[in-house]
Amino acid sequence: MASAAPVLLLEQTDSTNAEARRRAEAGETGPLWITARRQTAGRGRRGRSWASDSGNLFGTLLLTTRKAPAEAAQITFIAALSVADLLDAYAPPSLVTIKWPNDVMLAGDKASGVLVESGSHPAGGLWLAVGIGVNLASAPTGTERPATCLAQHLRGDVGAPPSVETAGARLAQAFAVWLERWRTLGFEPILDAWTARTTGLKGPATARLGHETVEGRAEGVAPDGALRLRLADGTLRLISAGDVF
Ligand code: BTN
Repeated sequence: MASAAPVLLLEQTDSTNAEARRRAEAGETGPLWITARRQTAGRGRRGRSWASDSGNLFGTLLLTTRKAPAEAAQITFIAALSVADLLDAYAPPSLVTIKWPNDVMLAGDKASGVLVESGSHPAGGLWLAVGIGVNLASAPTGTERPATCLAQHLRGDVGAPPSVETAGARLAQAFAVWLERWRTLGFEPILDAWTARTTGLKGPATARLGHETVEGRAEGVAPDGALRLRLADGTLRLISAGDVF
């Protein structure tokens, strides 16, 4: 069985991604999960903040790699699949889907987000901070799109959502299994598993790339996981998950 990276649980930090960055810049190579009960400055994609009420899971896997950045970015698919596995253990699996590129949804509403950051490691190669927030106990209100949490979608035989400790350990284990598959089998089976659970890969799609909003019709994914987006003028644009922020 693939062995999970150690999981550190902090009572409070500004952001587990920021904590991972500081440690990487100080020479920590990982793999190490940094989780926290509370974040005072949780970060989301596109410069947004991430509501960090205690009872939810905030975790970042810090690791280093010699892969080229484009290949290393494939880890975002592993993050989404691992969260989906975690939620499957407590919610009816039919409710758990991935919304392109890596939001994990319960009954169509967002329950989890992924923020991958990277930089040059002082010892060479790249450090990656794979930050994952999972709404276990509560969902933020007033978000741009409706959000939900695991507590609202538990299976009948499950009494309560997992604690932060249990969820962190299960996520770390699921992640280790997917990482091992990626290492031994390559990216294709990862992409197949991700494609099977992901919505928005066909039909009208909008991608926000920094200040640019690109609209078109999605026509599936390329072998590297980039979304194939047919624009109104007929041209095909490939949008990689790492470009969507
Ligand atoms: C998104 O906007 O969908 C991504 C949200 C990512 C939130 C997680 S919580 C743990 C880690 N630390 C952060 O500051 N952000 C990520």
